Amino acid sequence: MDDPTGHLISFEPDSPSRQRVRHAGGGENGTEGSPRTDDADRVRGTALDAPARAGVYEAIHLRRDVRAEFTGETVDESTLWRILDAAHRAPSVGNSQPWDFVVVRDPDRLAAFAAHVAEHRIAFRDGLPPERAAVFEPIKIEGIVESGTGIVVTHDDSRGGPQVLGRATVPETGVYSTVLAIQNLWLAATAEGVGVGWVSFYDPAFLSDLVGLPTGIRPIAWLCVGPVREFQTVPDLERFGWRSRRPLSAAVHHETFGTAD
Ligand SMILES: Cc1cc2nc3c(=O)[nH]c(=O)nc-3n(C[C@H](O)[C@H](O)[C@H](O)COP(=O)(O)O)c2cc1C
Repeated sequence: MDDPTGHLISFEPDSPSRQRVRHAGGGENGTEGSPRTDDADRVRGTALDAPARAGVYEAIHLRRDVRAEFTGETVDESTLWRILDAAHRAPSVGNSQPWDFVVVRDPDRLAAFAAHVAEHRIAFRDGLPPERAAVFEPIKIEGIVESGTGIVVTHDDSRGGPQVLGRATVPETGVYSTVLAIQNLWLAATAEGVGVGWVSFYDPAFLSDLVGLPTGIRPIAWLCVGPVREFQTVPDLERFGWRSRRPLSAAVHHETFGTAD
């Protein structure tokens, strides 16, 4: 991309080696530091040009929670790195960046997690009234082994120290930040033709143990990540009759909550 000002900030994601030498914001681990004033930090650009803009909306519309459409191939390293780089560029309260990503590919670990999730699937089904259990039964809720790659997204509430700017009155903003990283990851993956499926049928203690999380770091999501044959146009839960999307007009309110359009 041309940069007449010479202040270009590259769209190319940082390579692992580059990340080791570039620490935005001072301290070694993204902790406090003196303000940065060098030219590389200057802002750039406003709206995207029309094709790029269309691409953003296309990825948003195309994005699906994927369970059954994984090809069985493994996402290649450079694509995976770009996707993780997109996740790592998410906004975060106080710039605390409370997320980490554990990439899991060991077949035994994938199989162990899949078996654990299968147990929780059964437990959930058994707690449903019979008519809902019948709707739920054919719905696939994970592609852990087929995707070939699991990404455990974790959250560290202590990241950023005791005074996280903006979190004082709304403590959940920490977790919101980690979830935004997931959404960035999801959209970038979609743009790359890589499917993502969020799995939450697990006991957090089991998953923490499976991937060796230290005390204080908790799992927020297991994401199944892998190339896909296609993206469904309608969410699985809608196709299988579990629950449909609401129209936007039902979700938008004006002035007070009581006045949905
Ligand atoms: C926090 C969260 C947890 C989810 N957990 C699961 C899950 O355990 N299994 C599953 O099949 N889908 C899971 N999903 C995917 C949702 O079912 C899916 O996003 C929703 O049905 C809408 O479909 P779409 O993402 O394809 O638009 C989860 C999504 C979110 C945001």
